[in-house]
Amino acid sequence: MNIEELIKSQTLEGKVAIVTGASRPNGQGRAISKALAVRGAQLVMTDLEGDDPRYNYEGLGVGSAEILAEAVEEVKALGTEAIGVTADLTDRAQIQTVVDAALEAFGGIDILVNNAGSLHGHFIADLTEDMWDASYRVNLKAPVDFAAAVVPHMRRRGGGSIVQNTSVAGLAAFSGGGCYNGTKHGAVGMMKTMAEEFGPDNIRVNAVCPGNVWTDISQPEAELFARRGFAESAEQLVEMMENMAHLAGRYASPEDIAEAVAFLCTPGAKFITGIALRVDGGINIVGA
Ligand SMILES: NC(=O)c1ccc[n+]([C@@H]2O[C@H](COP(=O)([O-])OP(=O)(O)OC[C@H]3O[C@@H](n4cnc5c(N)ncnc54)[C@H](O)[C@@H]3O)[C@@H](O)[C@H]2O)c1
Repeated sequence: MNIEELIKSQTLEGKVAIVTGASRPNGQGRAISKALAVRGAQLVMTDLEGDDPRYNYEGLGVGSAEILAEAVEEVKALGTEAIGVTADLTDRAQIQTVVDAALEAFGGIDILVNNAGSLHGHFIADLTEDMWDASYRVNLKAPVDFAAAVVPHMRRRGGGSIVQNTSVAGLAAFSGGGCYNGTKHGAVGMMKTMAEEFGPDNIRVNAVCPGNVWTDISQPEAELFARRGFAESAEQLVEMMENMAHLAGRYASPEDIAEAVAFLCTPGAKFITGIALRVDGGINIVGA
């Protein structure tokens, strides 16, 4: 391989990418959009219209049209084209709206990153019907519905890449993880099923499994889990996560995860499909 071939293997020039959950300022969705944009992709960024209590678990926050518009401008400033479309992905009709907008703006779809997620962690005895519904619909059903909606368009382009943002909670369990653990395990399973079904059409499907990532929800989440008795204080919980769970001694940044996602979308990853890639700073070595 020479340097021109190396650059070609990493570029996404001429590709159209959809990223879900793309608005929050320090979220992985926005970071993933930027990582794809600097590689040359045109971006379709989507998130919820506003503060939807069903998905805003314990007030940890969700995206909105307003911050999505900001995120789109940030991506455009990197020198590519981008649009924002609001949608509740638990509704197939709204997924179709995003797909239609992508086709109208850019004429095709090559990449889908199913990043949107809903935490809903709780002890099993305390799980409610609403928690189950939100978790199942956002973490498990929506990514598969979205994939089904884009696959016919990827076939027309001769192939594509789909990446699911799952979690190490999709590979191992943690007490209090509730239906988050269950639905993320399911998402890893559906990733494998899709990889097998779509593989003959040159559509690769993979998952990334982050450990703890420092995002907009991390501080309020630490406070929540401290209140639930996992640590004496939020500070102690954060320190535990930093020092015990990651060999790197810190949380991941959204960019750490975004780089892995972007790699899986590039031509350089052409022989990689059906994998659940841990991006966890070594958390697996110490047992998670
Ligand atoms: N933050 C972490 O420590 C961590 C660790 C492992 C995995 N993850 C996973 O990574 C992904 C990104 O998490 P993040 O913390 O970076 O947040 P993020 O900023 O990427 O935001 C997730 C987005 O999902 C959107 N969303 C929720 N319900 C939706 C719905 N019904 N329709 C449309 N959009 C909806 C929210 O509005 C939010 O903007 C999630 O799937 C999460 O489960 C997060």
